[in-house]
Amino acid sequence: MAKPVQTLSEFIIEREKDFPFATGDLSQLLTSIRLAAKLVNREVNKAGLVTDILGATDQHNIQGEQQQKLDVYANDRFITAMRNQGAVCAVASEENDEHIVFDTPTSRSGKYVVAMDPLDGSSNIDVNVSIGTIFSIYRRLDPEKVTVDDFLQPGNQQVAAGYVVYGSSTMLVYTTGNGVNGFTLDPSIGVFCLSHPNMRIPEDGKIYSVNEGNYFDFPEPVRNYIDACKRKKYSARYIGSLVADFHRNLLKGGIYMYPGTTDKPGGKLRLVYEANPLSMLVEQAGGAATDGRTRIVDIKPEKLHQRCPLFIGSKKMVEQVM
Ligand code: AHG
Ligand code: MN
Ligand code: MN
Repeated sequence: MAKPVQTLSEFIIEREKDFPFATGDLSQLLTSIRLAAKLVNREVNKAGLVTDILGATDQHNIQGEQQQKLDVYANDRFITAMRNQGAVCAVASEENDEHIVFDTPTSRSGKYVVAMDPLDGSSNIDVNVSIGTIFSIYRRLDPEKVTVDDFLQPGNQQVAAGYVVYGSSTMLVYTTGNGVNGFTLDPSIGVFCLSHPNMRIPEDGKIYSVNEGNYFDFPEPVRNYIDACKRKKYSARYIGSLVADFHRNLLKGGIYMYPGTTDKPGGKLRLVYEANPLSMLVEQAGGAATDGRTRIVDIKPEKLHQRCPLFIGSKKMVEQVM
């Protein structure tokens, strides 16, 4: 007899039973993320065939980065899925200047806000390299109004966080604060199936992931750590899609670093959309994440698009670079 597979929807329902007071809103929210992920996955998979999804738009986001067509497509899909569903009252995205408050009758009373990087690793879209989506879920602060403060809660207040990696296979990995579970999309039936239950990151690793082109601009302790990795003949692995680099290190053990540099002391990555959700995941899997001084999830964000240095991965490696 074939081994029974558990689908993501079965898993969500089963976990909901563990919380007798759960209203099912978070489950619905995860369902809408799952739907949008499948739609984006479909477009990513045919990106080489249909040219209207490849390449850049003539728009720039608030960070001055040129938006790719798939950035815009993914952003629209995730926002639409959540707007139509009711559990979410507002969304903040790396691709929008300000947060968007939903005005549909059901979403007005939604309990959650979602921050997301709809398409991570956009420079890799056109060259057939893995990309991803990152999301972070908070409970809204005030049932009467939604403000930017809902999104400026520290990462330790996240209710759930996760990512989708569109790679050699497509996976959705998420946590609601009770461990991390990974689901692989079976494209023949269009269903995410539990493939990686209770994911744990190895305590130590032999992979370091950093854009070494910036080496001479890194702070001295970071350069020393990179030198030490080389002396120990660790493997250098850098895809340039944070989600994909993070996913590999989660499975195999390793550290991902995006330090601040002399001109950009905050580095490149965004606290609210990238660092916080991945930090919740890594901690739930037994790893660690810091900006070099402070645990990422303890930083109080001051601005929506704030950047922060990031050192994330196996606990021992993160401790050592600290
Ligand atoms: P995004 O595509 O969402 O803007 O994110 C790109 C990020 C991250 O995914 C990646 O690890 C990093 O930028 C790569 O930056 P460098 O090219 O500076 O190494
Ligand atoms: Mn990104
Ligand atoms: Mn992005």
